[in-house]
Amino acid sequence: MKRTEIINALQLAGEGQLINVRGWVRSRRGNKNVSFIALNDGSTIKNIQIVVDLANFPEEQLKPVTTGSCISATGHLVASQGSGQAVEIQLTELEVYGTADPEQYPLQKKGLSMEYLRTIAHLRPRTNTFGAVFRIRHNMAMAIHQYFHEHGFFYFHTPIITASDCEGAGQMFQVTTKNLYNLKKDEEGKIDYSDDFFGKQTSLTVSGQLEGELAAMALGKIYTFGPTFRAENSNTPRHLAEFWMIEPEVAFIQKDELMDLEEDFIKYCVRWALEHCKDDLEFLNQFVDKGLIARLESIIKTDFVRLTYTEGINILQEAIKNGKKFEFPCTWGDDLASEHERYLVEEHFNKPVIMSDYPKDIKAFYMKINEDDKTVQGTDVLFPQIGEIIGGSVREESLDKLNAEIERRDIPMKDMWWYLDTRRFGAAPHAGFGLGFERLMLFVTGMQNIRDVIPFPRTPKTAEF
Ligand code: 4AD
Ligand code: MG
Repeated sequence: MKRTEIINALQLAGEGQLINVRGWVRSRRGNKNVSFIALNDGSTIKNIQIVVDLANFPEEQLKPVTTGSCISATGHLVASQGSGQAVEIQLTELEVYGTADPEQYPLQKKGLSMEYLRTIAHLRPRTNTFGAVFRIRHNMAMAIHQYFHEHGFFYFHTPIITASDCEGAGQMFQVTTKNLYNLKKDEEGKIDYSDDFFGKQTSLTVSGQLEGELAAMALGKIYTFGPTFRAENSNTPRHLAEFWMIEPEVAFIQKDELMDLEEDFIKYCVRWALEHCKDDLEFLNQFVDKGLIARLESIIKTDFVRLTYTEGINILQEAIKNGKKFEFPCTWGDDLASEHERYLVEEHFNKPVIMSDYPKDIKAFYMKINEDDKTVQGTDVLFPQIGEIIGGSVREESLDKLNAEIERRDIPMKDMWWYLDTRRFGAAPHAGFGLGFERLMLFVTGMQNIRDVIPFPRTPKTAEF
């Protein structure tokens, strides 16, 4: 018999029709006469109740039906007599696909800690919380593609293996097929990469931006959406070594339009979650973060504050004057620490902030330099609970200025020739940003740790599964 997904079965009127559902048993309870199975198949956070008349199914046959086991259940869909569900299935035929020994199956108890669940990341999608998170993750990916498609952007695939360090922060994982115990070296003792697979030193990309810029100089409006890798040894609830980034790049726009795009895009994604993930958000709102739905609803109605870095520093220094204590210094020129960002966003404004015009020395080489020659047109979005969710900028389109910056920073020129060609042939003003997908997921789900919004997190010293 054809399977009905539980999300669809729960929509049907219970008129006694015969249906078949398949899924994993969440619980079984009952008495001498009747047994109730709560079955979930992942299509929705909701379980369907299967009622077993023990007169027809001897206890022996039901024995393998324990929490975690997988079954196929056929029966009549009827209006439920109990409260809590509109319909239920009266079992007529049972097949057990796979048992789950109650002595060994780890997901028996409720209220297991997030830390423990990370150690069983292969099973945690079967919990309510992670089922909700991963369904929302899918929906957010759809929202992103939909937004850009609707707005005339083209999805452009940038390479994962690269020979250039876009952010220049030296946080790259090397890619090699060489025998690390027997490396070929030149006279000076340096590794001879001509011997390696690509004939040069290569790494996993930290950002698709540089190639994205090439594409924007041809297709006008593009975006990337793919995995990026950073070997930064920061064990925080906001950093992963492997994360997904969305990077739109747009020709012919300026700073204000870039900030408009950042704000409009995030609001669209949050609105999408509220419209498409209602059941999962209600669950998370009840069990993970009581303020979640209210916060999502308020964000889409709020105008983000637009603030220059210099104005931000002034506010922070004013706060220090009035007795506020920070761990890290914040004088003009310092990179803001997350405590500073959170003070501005959570305490001072209580709204998302788009901060712009940073000192050039704390930002990457490609950002457009302002007239003052001190600041660049970076436009980061800072969010409550999260801190930096978007990093963006207008790009320097002048070949001379870009070259001067590359020289000042001692960036190896010969590897950048192709990037500089965009400034040589038909250079155009352009701008773009990168949104960390898991940072967006943190905001939309109310989860506290970035390790819990990606199926298999990669962080320092952990690469299990
Ligand atoms: O600010 P970042 O480093 O900017 C870039 O990579 C630019 N090339 C983007 C562009 O303009 N096209 O990173 C962008 C965003 C951050 O704002 C943050 O949300 C996320 O990527 N991010 C991380 N997310 C998780 N773990 C990490 N280690 C992250 N590093 C950055
Ligand atoms: Mg950044």
